[in-house]
Amino acid sequence: MGVTGYTGAETVQCLARHRNARITSLSVRSEEPVKYPSVYPAMGKVVDLECSKINIDDISDKCDVVFLALPHTVSMEYAGTLVERGKKVIDLSADYRLPADVYEKWFGTAHIDKAHLSRAVYGLPELNRDKIRGASFVANPGCYPTSVALALLPIAGILAAKGVEPIIDSKSGTTGAGKKNQANLMFSEVQDNFRCYKANDHQHIPEIESVLSCAAGRDLKVHFTPHLLPIRRGIMSTIYIPHAGFPPAEELHKMYSEKYAKEPFVRVSPPGEFPEIAHVANTNFCDIGIKVARGLIIIVSVLDNLLKGASGQAVENMNIMCGFDEKEGLV
Ligand SMILES: NC(=O)c1ccc[n+]([C@@H]2O[C@H](COP(=O)([O-])OP(=O)(O)OC[C@H]3O[C@@H](n4cnc5c(N)ncnc54)[C@H](OP(=O)(O)O)[C@@H]3O)[C@@H](O)[C@H]2O)c1
Repeated sequence: MGVTGYTGAETVQCLARHRNARITSLSVRSEEPVKYPSVYPAMGKVVDLECSKINIDDISDKCDVVFLALPHTVSMEYAGTLVERGKKVIDLSADYRLPADVYEKWFGTAHIDKAHLSRAVYGLPELNRDKIRGASFVANPGCYPTSVALALLPIAGILAAKGVEPIIDSKSGTTGAGKKNQANLMFSEVQDNFRCYKANDHQHIPEIESVLSCAAGRDLKVHFTPHLLPIRRGIMSTIYIPHAGFPPAEELHKMYSEKYAKEPFVRVSPPGEFPEIAHVANTNFCDIGIKVARGLIIIVSVLDNLLKGASGQAVENMNIMCGFDEKEGLV
């Protein structure tokens, strides 16, 4: 659902090359049926299905797994019904990632499907793989939260125990904002420019704090400021933490390497080296580098916001839920 948007299109691409999946329904908002290649010409002769207006009865008849690549507030109009009908549902929006009161505070809107909130498993495989395996409803993580959570999971317990609040400086390409017609996202506003927005006031803060607190087993606070990069896809999060009271650099690097040694989509850079967005663009990888310098731990995490930050992780979640190879459709 929502296949005219960026994450919808990326999900379609992943599923089109997936050996265990067959795309049976593409839903859009508009009344006019349209062949998918006329929306995304790159999909000509790959996915020639007709897209039709969202119809839950039709989707329920045709699909075992449903991806909701819809804006927040729209997903919660449909997700509950699909869950009740026994579908496996993966929601890419923020509608089921937070408790209702926190969601309502940060998103400034009422939650209209509180009944299904507790059914949704937070879909970060590196934290919740076992829960995802048995789930029929997954709240797919946000792009910034995925980049930050993976960068801090190995030391979340130490951060929480010491009450240290990391400072997170994140940068995202423009597709992170979706396919919106908005003046500040126009080419001439973004190209040759670089700006921060929602400084320490972004709606992804409670999600970052919630996933890290869950990993640490106690409350953890962060400071988070995002920036808009003049590129199409990719996120870099640079995180600063005072080194005092943490293990030495070598041991920290070992903790990261061991934590992610068996993870199919997280790569730890050699000691002291930092990954770049170009290393992960168009892949489902999150690359992490860690260095200690002049009293600070500096962690850099990069991923593709449309893949590990959205659709790639959604397909990864489907693979886990359905018992497929976790990497199918993604490498
Ligand atoms: N972009 C990212 O990097 C990213 C990363 C992680 C999570 N997410 C989340 O994933 C979701 C989709 O993001 P996106 O970037 O793909 O957004 P997008 O490019 O703006 O696409 C949104 C899709 O939803 C449809 N839609 C909008 N309002 C609707 C309504 N009232 N009823 C039915 N359909 C409606 C749009 O249809 P029209 O074409 O008709 O407008 C479009 O197909 C969002 O919740 C976003 O927060 C995005």
